[in-house]
Amino acid sequence: MIRQLDTDLEISSIPLVDLATQSRQIKEDVLRRMSDVIDSARYILGQEVQEFEEQFAAYCGVDHCVGLANGTDALHMALRALDVGEGDEVITAGNSFAATAFAIAYSGAQAVFVDIDPVDFNIDPNRIEAAITPRTKAIIPVHLYGQPAQMAAIREIADRHGLKIIEDAAQAHGAESNGQRCGSFGDIGCFSFYPGKNLGAFGDAGAAVTNDPELAERLRLLRNYGQKVKNRHDCLGYNCRMDTLQACVLLSKMQHIEDWTNSRRQVAAWYGEALASTDLQLPVERDDARHVYHLYVVRHPQRDAIIESLAAKKIFCGVHYPHPLATATPFQDAKSFPEGLPVCTSAASAILSLPMYPEMTQQHVAVVAKALVEFGC
Ligand SMILES: Cc1ncc(COP(=O)(O)O)c(C=O)c1O
Repeated sequence: MIRQLDTDLEISSIPLVDLATQSRQIKEDVLRRMSDVIDSARYILGQEVQEFEEQFAAYCGVDHCVGLANGTDALHMALRALDVGEGDEVITAGNSFAATAFAIAYSGAQAVFVDIDPVDFNIDPNRIEAAITPRTKAIIPVHLYGQPAQMAAIREIADRHGLKIIEDAAQAHGAESNGQRCGSFGDIGCFSFYPGKNLGAFGDAGAAVTNDPELAERLRLLRNYGQKVKNRHDCLGYNCRMDTLQACVLLSKMQHIEDWTNSRRQVAAWYGEALASTDLQLPVERDDARHVYHLYVVRHPQRDAIIESLAAKKIFCGVHYPHPLATATPFQDAKSFPEGLPVCTSAASAILSLPMYPEMTQQHVAVVAKALVEFGC
């Protein structure tokens, strides 16, 4: 029962995410930083990019961070840096955002999908070995929704089979397992700073982090046409550098990321209390984990009807993601373990992302919970 809070309080609508409110908090600081860049004309790989790379590496607990144009490029460049390509197979979770599998395809390798753990929504380590063949070169665990994948078990399998690990930490800034930050477990950790992410730019941006100085060097070459020295191209590189103006936004947001993450965790705790007596299946934070609740994903068999009923009350939900990756046209011939990805498939029709952003109040949560109870959850 939601008794303590006045749910009739004037709240006209609750979006899935509220970027504008957060942007207002940092606007002055961002404008000041951007103004410096505009005056200096250091638009490409300006000092703000390096400053951000240093801060973000420290935040992740790693030695190196390489700023890139977006999270998809981070995954693609990580695969290139590790020499994954034509003829290789890369194992990943069957329920990620398309970019994870697209990056594998861009590298020339084949994506191989593994089903997920029904409790934490991440790749099921017990299913990985069945998917390994002599062609397997790497595993890309995805810390989906902000909950770390089971990295100790994945690392043990990767070491036993001589495989590389690239973490897709696009949704897991500051997430931890046993006190260690996501991005620092694998050979390379990849982040997206897409605007809606827990740490988001005012456009596209991404980064790859690593403890290996040689990999960091390769990533720096790859992002800038293979150039260490201007006009000397040491490898077939790309143009996927982090934009200096986006680095300004990220530097501003770095000052708040811990507070915002704690606020997300508080919102999740409020949801947990408010929805405890409903028949919604709530997210479970593993004991070893610091879940950063990029998304607050619940499950219910009447998912679509719930979305409609809440939208009628101006409460907006999402679905991340409605179809397992293996069913997407580019991956129609991809292998999946077990075939058909039963857990991914059943989750895809029941998952529902409730509104989640650091500025949500307990009142907002109560309004969402009341609407769910009124629906009959
Ligand atoms: C799990 C996951 N991987 C990769 C990406 C790709 O990141 P980007 O949109 O910055 O290219 C995203 C985000 O969009 C994501 O959620």
